[in-house]
Amino acid sequence: MSLKGKRILLGVTGSIAAYKSAFLTRLLVKAGAEVQIIMSASAFDFITPLTLATLSKKPVLSKFQKDDSGVWNNHVELGLWADLFLVAPISANTVAKFANGICDNLLSATYLSARCPVMIAPAMDLDMYQHPSVRENLKRLLSFGNQILDAETGELASGLSGQGRMMEPENILEKVEEFFSKTQDFKGKKVQITMGPTQEAIDPVRFISNHSSGKMGYALAEAFLERGADVFVISGPISLKVNKERFHWKDIRSANEMFEAAKALHPKMDISVFAAAVADYAPAKVAKEKIKKNDAELSIHLIKNVDIAYSLGLEKKLNQIHVGFALETENESKNAQSKLKKKNLDIIVLNSMKEAGAGFQLDTNKVHIFHRSGASTQTGISPKNQIASLILDQIKLVPVQV
Ligand code: PMT
Repeated sequence: MSLKGKRILLGVTGSIAAYKSAFLTRLLVKAGAEVQIIMSASAFDFITPLTLATLSKKPVLSKFQKDDSGVWNNHVELGLWADLFLVAPISANTVAKFANGICDNLLSATYLSARCPVMIAPAMDLDMYQHPSVRENLKRLLSFGNQILDAETGELASGLSGQGRMMEPENILEKVEEFFSKTQDFKGKKVQITMGPTQEAIDPVRFISNHSSGKMGYALAEAFLERGADVFVISGPISLKVNKERFHWKDIRSANEMFEAAKALHPKMDISVFAAAVADYAPAKVAKEKIKKNDAELSIHLIKNVDIAYSLGLEKKLNQIHVGFALETENESKNAQSKLKKKNLDIIVLNSMKEAGAGFQLDTNKVHIFHRSGASTQTGISPKNQIASLILDQIKLVPVQV
């Protein structure tokens, strides 16, 4: 695949694998990409900027200020310029900086400013790569939506053998091509996604809600955005750190508010994804003042909330796609498939409460995807961003003009 017109920021950090970034640069440039390299200070101990500048055909950047000219290397502009931010190799030190918002060099400042997707290819010694602090930091980066190009197994510079070698440049090129080949397959499509929990007020300080963190919905929103869609998020209250600027974003609290927002958008949408965990019931009356604990018992009369997916399913046109989720504790497949029909969905994504590593709050999920046609597919436990990407692949199979 040609990478013509694609702008790639390539970060290079201090690792013996830095020599491989020369090969990687050559491959990316040969494929047509415009490559801007940023080196960390310690990368200079492993490879010269002259080599990388020659191969990338651009001066290498490493400091906030260009050496003599007094001109500022604007990390914000760099972050906005790129279509992809790739750091290969990334050392344990830079992984820790990225995971914790440490911003003490041009590379880490650019990371914090970048709005484009980020891919990192770690390279470190066997025990370093397995150290709980590194695992924890990588997990955090994964939860930020960064793609980790897992280190390969083989002989390491230390003489030890095991996992830690930076992914070979040819394999990284393949990942980059895969990323760009996917980015445009939802171009021009309008997608709304409901996500997170809803909160149903009992009184001014209390509410009924659930454990949804919004992570699954947000991973879907990012996946659609990366693949070219115009994404409209309707989110219940979440504590997840998200980049709202990248989306059309509406914050809501109650199921009714979510319904009103989704209903207003629906006629213009090509795809509606109902990933929110909507409270099925809400208090019939919201107390004006905080309810006092005067009585030994308290009953709250609940009434059924509007079913957003069902209601919009009634209005669905032939060229629109609806994707629902199901969270079941028993008769999972049967219940999910009956919701698929009842709510006029094209796809339902079942996540089980019984699977360790799947469902609420976690960074990973395991899902069973059912199509209206009867076809179905199952995933293993994977990061939610990878699950999201698989769901998008399944949406492409729905027989309408997407
Ligand atoms: O947010 P996370 O912590 O990452 O967790 C993700 C998730 C588990 C919340 C998510 O993947 C998920 O399963 N969301 C739907 C959970 C749910 O409410 O399932 P349900 O079986 O009750 O609803 C079925 C479908 O109808 C869902 O698409 C739901 O959004 C929709 N629905 C339900 C009730 C309602 N009043 N309105 C709706 O639109």
